[in-house]
Amino acid sequence: MSSKRQILVTNALPYANAALHLGHILEYTQTDVWVRFQRMRGHECYYVSADDAHGTAIMLKADEKGISAEQHIADMRAIHEADFRDFLIGVDNYHSTHSEENRELSELIYNRLNDNGHIAKREITQAFDPEKNLFLADRYIKGTCPKCKTDDQYGDNCEACGATYAPTDLINPVSAISGATPIEKESTHYFFKLPEFTEFLQEWTRSGAVQTEVANKLGEWLDSGLQEWDISRDAPYFGFEIPNAPGKYFYVWLDAPIGYMAAFKNLCDRDDIDFDQYWAPDSTTELYHFIGKDIVNFHALFWPAMLKSANYRTPTKVCVHGFVTVNGKKMSKSRGTFINARCYLDHLNPEYLRYYYASKLSGSVEDIDLNLEDFVQKVNSDLVGKVVNIASRCAKFVANGNNGVLSGNIENPELWEQVRGAADSIAQHYENRDYGKAIREIMAQADASNEYIAAKEPWKLNKVEGKQQEVQDICSLGINLFRLLLGYLKPVLPAMAAEGEAFLNSELSWDSLQQPLSEHSINPFKPLMQRIEKDRVDAMVEASKDEAAQAAAPQLEGPLADDPIADEINFDDFIKVDLRVAQILKASHVEGAEKLLQLTLDIGGETRNVFSGIKSSYKPEDLEGRLTVMVANLAPRKMRFGMSEGMVLAAGDKQGIYLLEPDSGAQPGQRVT
Ligand code: 2FM
Ligand code: ZN
Repeated sequence: MSSKRQILVTNALPYANAALHLGHILEYTQTDVWVRFQRMRGHECYYVSADDAHGTAIMLKADEKGISAEQHIADMRAIHEADFRDFLIGVDNYHSTHSEENRELSELIYNRLNDNGHIAKREITQAFDPEKNLFLADRYIKGTCPKCKTDDQYGDNCEACGATYAPTDLINPVSAISGATPIEKESTHYFFKLPEFTEFLQEWTRSGAVQTEVANKLGEWLDSGLQEWDISRDAPYFGFEIPNAPGKYFYVWLDAPIGYMAAFKNLCDRDDIDFDQYWAPDSTTELYHFIGKDIVNFHALFWPAMLKSANYRTPTKVCVHGFVTVNGKKMSKSRGTFINARCYLDHLNPEYLRYYYASKLSGSVEDIDLNLEDFVQKVNSDLVGKVVNIASRCAKFVANGNNGVLSGNIENPELWEQVRGAADSIAQHYENRDYGKAIREIMAQADASNEYIAAKEPWKLNKVEGKQQEVQDICSLGINLFRLLLGYLKPVLPAMAAEGEAFLNSELSWDSLQQPLSEHSINPFKPLMQRIEKDRVDAMVEASKDEAAQAAAPQLEGPLADDPIADEINFDDFIKVDLRVAQILKASHVEGAEKLLQLTLDIGGETRNVFSGIKSSYKPEDLEGRLTVMVANLAPRKMRFGMSEGMVLAAGDKQGIYLLEPDSGAQPGQRVT
């Protein structure tokens, strides 16, 4: 093997304002497999990540929840860490960009850029929310598209006609935060002089640091001329204040990649690792960033330029992947294909998805489709039907016929040589992040191994007098082939590999795989992986729909009073809605539901179970006995928590939710018209 490499690996840092979904898990799986592979080869490979904790969105989210930003990011970090842990992501350190290490490094890097003359300062005019006293980024301004006149479009582009424009072009612009009409206001901003790095970036982007397709895209941007990059934001902003610039904060994207260094610094302090050895400008260590294709400009233009100016090493490679689609389409909340990491984990084994993603990944930026039928089929047929099957067919003969001790003979040296000999090419595919090719090669060897056992039929031979040694030789080779295959799969399936190691009574490192286990005791075999039941996948999709419905539950979050009146309906449409007076017999909290209460309603001799998104405004005990109005003929909806048989009526907006109540004297079951 080549000499020991020293590698530092990072992932894109997820924002601390939302749950992780299967898109995040794609990237983290891709990275984790690569890291586990490097470690298995005996290299030193550190892997760090963190929550990306700064910015306006996070500040507003904390406000909405009525908690401090610090509390909010601490809560999110704990949730993210648990999700990654349960997907078997083996980071050495999971940190936060809101950390002392990051503050120090961000100030240090900014000061170096400034000292080198790479920071400019000038006045700019921006939209400002006069009610909230907040400058508004484009996505916080909404209005009517100047081109196609569709209402409720964001300040930078129209979702209906695709037009791009400045927020000042919107017709009737309003602040998406307060609903106020924005005014224009001047403010001093700080800029990083990116154009001065054009020549350096032209060279760096063509040095093999990014995939060719990415270099081509960057080439287009470089050719059309780089702009200075605005790295400051005005207070109020959740982030770090810029040195010697009171009231000005680093834009979240300035300190986010520095968060990679900060997470590593925190690890270095904990485990006594030499930070400078990894970040010095002449470092011989390797630095890999794994990211999605939407954030290439930050990682392959701004970040290397910042590192260059601040006299740090630049990345060895920025590895860019595509997006996840589900069943060939963009993930969708209403179809139940916008699947959160935790929802997946509640239903399915994480290694199924790790395997499926690995089988589809290549080193390119193409999107990856999670086809749910193919997912079930591939995992069952490859892992259960091919790999585990080899061990389960052979183990019992070794256990019963030879006390669990493997034979010292190799029954078919050519086959052993063939499966063992695939190691180098499989390793090369892992190294190139071409996991799909690695998996195909491993499965081809699994097919060859199964064919061998099927042809030898040890179960028949075992009944023939005098053939017992031959059975032992065949099945011992079978176990040794299984060991090779499991070793090759270990970066993808760490938990299954660990169980396999216990069964084989042997640790699987890339080098030790080369020698077969001979006259070696193995342990009793237990099935290492269960088949995926299609029902579990269906249940996960249903649960995702419920989660999405629940998140939107009260539909009372926006400023309802400003909502335009809906399209006209006729009397026949209206009369179809059967509204009834209902008495709340019982109200209770729903475990695991952020916004819902469970209500038992009496509508005149008939009781209904309804889940209602009114938890933020009502205590269950205050509701019992009250009258309200419900839609009694709404089709029942199966939710994660049970069946919801109707809907109660409430008014509301951000300030609160108000349940409708008939005048006193109304009786449960009376029709409301
Ligand atoms: O796009 C995102 O989700 C960002 N939070 C990624 C940051 S990556 C790094 F620069 F921190
Ligand atoms: Zn439009």
